[in-house]
Amino acid sequence: MPDAPTYLDHAATTAVLPEVIETVTEHMRQLGNPSSLHGAGRDARRVVEESRESIASDLGVRPSEVIFTSGGTESDNMAVKGTWFHNYENETGRNVLVVSAIEHHAVLDAVEHLVLEHDAEVAWLEPDSAGRIRPETLQKALDEHGDRAALVSVMWANNEVGTVQPVEELAGLAREHGVPFHTDAVQALGQVPLPLGEVGADLVALTGHKIGGPMGVGLLVAGRDQTPVPLTHGGGQERQLRSGTLDTPAIAGLAVAVRRAVSEQELHAKTMIQLRDRLIQGALDLDPTIQVSGPWEPGDGILRLPANAHLRVPGCDGDSLLYLLDAAGVQCSTGSACQAGVPQPSHVLLAMGVEEDAARGSLRLTLGRTSTDADVDAFLAALPGAVDRARRARGVSRGA
Ligand SMILES: Cc1ncc(COP(=O)(O)O)c(C=O)c1O
Repeated sequence: MPDAPTYLDHAATTAVLPEVIETVTEHMRQLGNPSSLHGAGRDARRVVEESRESIASDLGVRPSEVIFTSGGTESDNMAVKGTWFHNYENETGRNVLVVSAIEHHAVLDAVEHLVLEHDAEVAWLEPDSAGRIRPETLQKALDEHGDRAALVSVMWANNEVGTVQPVEELAGLAREHGVPFHTDAVQALGQVPLPLGEVGADLVALTGHKIGGPMGVGLLVAGRDQTPVPLTHGGGQERQLRSGTLDTPAIAGLAVAVRRAVSEQELHAKTMIQLRDRLIQGALDLDPTIQVSGPWEPGDGILRLPANAHLRVPGCDGDSLLYLLDAAGVQCSTGSACQAGVPQPSHVLLAMGVEEDAARGSLRLTLGRTSTDADVDAFLAALPGAVDRARRARGVSRGA
């Protein structure tokens, strides 16, 4: 077992970049609320606005379109709930949310809240077996619900199986029907090109801690014509959309992380693809019964996120595998959430048509800037023993 654990859960969160730590630390030493009018406040405001300009320029959007938030969850909630409430309050008759069935819970649960607690309707977009939302699926939903649709929401890339969506085509279809398009691009930033200026998405959720920025800071890109109803009320910061004192140090750190993510995306993707392919191929060589979820072509970084590997190991519970690998010094994820401490089969895999039993044996291995060949080797060395014990444990728990 290696001295330091092998971390293969970069999609959950990744190491903060040293220059982000420096920037955040430097700004934490500076006094000032960016909403104050005196010199200290104006200095803090300058840092916020320069960060906003830097991020906007890196993302190819206008500075006024960048709304700072506490991260991906808040940005998704603002986009989904804020837009739906706008339609509700203005009695537009647009009551339907057109949403992919494989969204992160930040979107999924916001939608379900609106359905359960308000009278929202939802049209789920089902993926194909690779986890892709096909443009014809959206076309059909828009033909049926377009004039009553408040929002289309399809994530840029899936956090579990790594499938990258045809966002430009999907956004184009939404635009043709005059329906705002939201995309959760939390996992995509830094891994695939994000030409936001060309794609025509109206709302885009991003977060700092998946790209080496601080935790607890993110942003929503919101086109100037988007007027989601604010979910927090108070000082009226951020175009009146998101009240609350801005976290100047975190925002400055976020700008540094976005710059690195965008400027190094191509090179980063190349390195990640090599490691990912070696990891997947190595696992398949060890156990040919293992299935890869999502599209996988060696060398491809367009259809699947370069840093994502998602494996289904027959006859195992993903949770047992996770704990056994952890004990062997390899930290990874099953990809799906627990509810009240009970592991649930992933809604993403079920939507892709994977049988419930097979969905339970899933493992998500995600790479990041600090990943090396030695991490892949450590995983491949630990895998056979963990699989063997997990299979035996499942046999025992079933009385086999
Ligand atoms: C696709 C996706 N959306 C949203 C989030 C939530 O982001 P945050 O942790 O910044 O709230 C995550 C985090 O796991 C994610 O993977």
